[in-house]
Amino acid sequence: MAFSRRVFLGAGAGVLAQAQSVAPSDRITVGMIATGSRSHELLEAIKKVDGTEIVGVCDAYTGRVQRAIERTSSRAKDYGSYERILDDPAIDAVTVGTPDHWHKQMVVEALEAGKDVYCEKPLTYTIDEGLKIAAVAEKTGRIVQVGSQSISGNLMKELREWVQSGKLGQVTMIRAAYNRNSPGGSWLYPIPPDASPETVNWEAFLGPAPAHEFDLERFFRWRCYREYSGGIATDLFVHLCTTVHFVMGAQMAAEVMAMGDIYRWTENRNVPDTLNALLRYREGFTVNLSSTFNSRADDGYQFQVLGTEGAAVVKGRDLEFYPDPGTDNNAWIVAGWPSHLEAEYYRTPAGAAELRRSSAPEEEVYTGDGPSPTVAHFQDFFSAIRNRGATVEDAWVGHYAASCAHLINAAAESGETQRWDFEKHRQA
Ligand SMILES: NC(=O)c1ccc[n+]([C@@H]2O[C@H](COP(=O)([O-])OP(=O)(O)OC[C@H]3O[C@@H](n4cnc5c(N)ncnc54)[C@H](O)[C@@H]3O)[C@@H](O)[C@H]2O)c1
Repeated sequence: MAFSRRVFLGAGAGVLAQAQSVAPSDRITVGMIATGSRSHELLEAIKKVDGTEIVGVCDAYTGRVQRAIERTSSRAKDYGSYERILDDPAIDAVTVGTPDHWHKQMVVEALEAGKDVYCEKPLTYTIDEGLKIAAVAEKTGRIVQVGSQSISGNLMKELREWVQSGKLGQVTMIRAAYNRNSPGGSWLYPIPPDASPETVNWEAFLGPAPAHEFDLERFFRWRCYREYSGGIATDLFVHLCTTVHFVMGAQMAAEVMAMGDIYRWTENRNVPDTLNALLRYREGFTVNLSSTFNSRADDGYQFQVLGTEGAAVVKGRDLEFYPDPGTDNNAWIVAGWPSHLEAEYYRTPAGAAELRRSSAPEEEVYTGDGPSPTVAHFQDFFSAIRNRGATVEDAWVGHYAASCAHLINAAAESGETQRWDFEKHRQA
């Protein structure tokens, strides 16, 4: 169907944030715990936020430390280990960008050392870890921001506004997916040619994970292994769950079912390459999540919020609104009636309304501008540090989103529906 497009631009929140520059003495000093692939993106985002400075880094592979220091024009120093970063009272805040099995220990130790913490998603490796982190965050009064950055972008803020204002009508279903069809998309990343026991600190990588002999595949492709990761659920669905909770104003799924398997990428992997999950929310809607590494359907990404008045569909940097007035079209039914009854039908209010149906409802397109979601997420984090205020994705928010992922894995692994206990904030 051909739509006319009305285009709206985002409000440009970044301009406001840039304007409030801070005195150099007020700068927030940052230590980066791990400088892996994602952390290099975090580093570049932090550099875009005024009044911050990356002063220290550490990583279990030397090549990544070198590159991170290069990116700071040699202003950051190699601290050698996360413990040394935490020991330095000159560091105000840390980022945690290690594999998932390390997050809880590092976040808890950082909070107890008096640091404010930006931890990459998923906040946790198990549900109970989230309760511990939230308790320590509350006890220490430190700031936590969890790294599902999309909710800080203007696109998802606009989507939330559409949902909360009633523009979409009653929302009863959300469909979302991440699809890929390549080795890298399936987490089989290239391994740097200089990786060896000399450049890779295997024991530091393992940390709280089960003992295992030196293995570069596990080190660089840790997402493929359940010992360090929750696979698709914690790597990808956690972003979708964070966004669902944000736009719907929902805390947590009440009930979860899931099915997954390894169909294609069978070598060196013990987590599914295909996963489907259903989540039921107390607020009166369901969520349908899926991911496959065996087809890049929907250009790799789907996020659709389906309401009785219209659907919101995220496409790249656009948020599209498809009005859905729910008008009947019973022409094919009444065409089988006696002709005079068919003619009479179109004189009734319902029939007349069908004739008045607009031929082409207007699609609206909102294009998010402003800073990248990661930069905006850091702006939120650093302004919470200055004001001792709230972040958009604090420990509880991170706990709930990660817990959805953990329930999905438990459901897929057991074949049984998983339920949430809203009083204990853990699985029932
Ligand atoms: N928000 C997003 O969009 C996004 C995107 C990608 C990754 N992530 C998250 O970021 C985290 C890291 O993912 P990645 O893609 O950067 O993985 P990565 O393998 O590239 O980086 C992880 C790094 O942690 C280091 N490391 C492991 N143990 C360490 C220790 N004890 N001390 C110091 N460094 C240690 C490794 O050497 C490695 O460089 C994960 O939690 C992942 O889910 C988030």
